[in-house]
This record gives sequence, structure tokens and C-alpha cells, in this order.
Amino acid sequence: MDVSLQQLLHELEIFGRDNDAREEDRSKKMLNIEPDTAHLISILIRSSHSKSLLEIGTSNGYSTIWLAWATQSTGGHVTSLERDPDKQVLADANLKQAGLRDRVDLLVGEATELISTLAGPFDFVLFDADRTSAPDQLRLLLPKLLPGSLVLADNALSHPDQIAPYLAAIEALPEMDHMVVPVGKGLSVAYKMAGGKSR
Ligand SMILES: C[S@@+](CC[C@H](N)C(=O)[O-])C[C@H]1O[C@@H](n2cnc3c(N)ncnc32)[C@H](O)[C@@H]1O
Repeated sequence: MDVSLQQLLHELEIFGRDNDAREEDRSKKMLNIEPDTAHLISILIRSSHSKSLLEIGTSNGYSTIWLAWATQSTGGHVTSLERDPDKQVLADANLKQAGLRDRVDLLVGEATELISTLAGPFDFVLFDADRTSAPDQLRLLLPKLLPGSLVLADNALSHPDQIAPYLAAIEALPEMDHMVVPVGKGLSVAYKMAGGKSR
């Protein structure tokens, strides 16, 4: 990653932290993923050669920049979903500043409704939005996931009660090998195998 992109990501980290400390309205917080989590995700994308990425929860595009940057080495593309049009405007500007806007489709609306309109197939999904809707969104996405897909969800350790139904749903799928990685706020990592569980 070049120095100017590292610098932009660092500025966005500071912006997000300051904004979220000041802002009392939760819907106006950026709630960006932790840098270590984003870094790990970018390694997973590059090492698995993910090409068709879906992000649920764009916010101002901090994590989207990491995903889009990783797709530069895989030849991939990102679709990212966000319900708040003001945040989508910020994400658009931040992706342009990063020089990565052409690698991303930004869609505004309720994620569950948008997901039902997306054809896929996807080989990478990052859940980082509304944990209550995540099990339904997972159910809608399953037929659109290629074998070998990675399905990730943030906040696996920071919000255990809210994310429990999602973790139970993914753990119950025979085709998914799943674990929680204790990085950042806790990253749920599931790998869609061609056959059943290997363990
Ligand atoms: C945790 S933040 C995403 C942070 C972002 N991934 C990052 O690391 O920079 C969650 C975002 O999802 C959006 N969101 C929450 N529920 C949603 C839903 N049901 N449909 C679409 N967007 C939603 C929120 O507006 C918020 O911007």
C-alpha cells in the first residue's frame, strides 16, 4: 500500500474516532472497523483471490477502501450497501480520494431489500451493519455464494448478545467451516466448502 493511501486511512481513523466520541446520535457515528481487522481482511481477500465482494454497512467507506485496495491485486470488484445517503456521499468522496472509486458500486437502501435484488454470485461477504437482520441476510445470500467463499462478520466479541443468532445460523450450516478470530471487535470467519464440514 502506498504512503498516500496509508495516510488517508490514518486520517479517516482519526476522523472516525473523533466523530464517534463527539456524536451522541448513534446513526451519525462512523463505527469504522478496527485497523487490525481491516488489515487481516485485506490479507484474506488477497490470499483467497476473492473477486466478487459484498460489504453490508459502508458507513463513510473506511473498510470499503481496504476491500477495494485488496481487489486491485485480485482483479475483483466491491458492492457495498448503506442505508444512510449522507454516509454514502462521504464514502463516494473518500473512495475518489483513495483513487479506488471505479472498483466499487455503492448502493443506498435497506440492506435486506437490496440483497434480494442482487444476482451475485459472490465469493466474499463482510457483514458490518445491522446484526439483527444478519441471519435473514445470510439466508438470502446463501444461494448466491460460490464454493470457496469467505463470509465475515465484525463485532463477534463486542456485541455477543446481538450477534448470537447470526453466529448460531452460520455454525449450523454444514457447508461452512467457522471460527471467531479475536482481532479488533472479534471477527467471525466462515469458509464455504464444496462438501460438508471437515472437522
Ligand atoms: C458499523 S458501521 C459500518 C462501518 C464500515 N464497515 C467501516 O468499517 O468503515 C454500520 C453501517 O451500516 C449501516 N446500516 C445499519 N443497518 C443497516 C441496514 N439494515 N441496511 C443498510 N445499512 C445499514 C449504518 O448506517 C452504518 O453506517
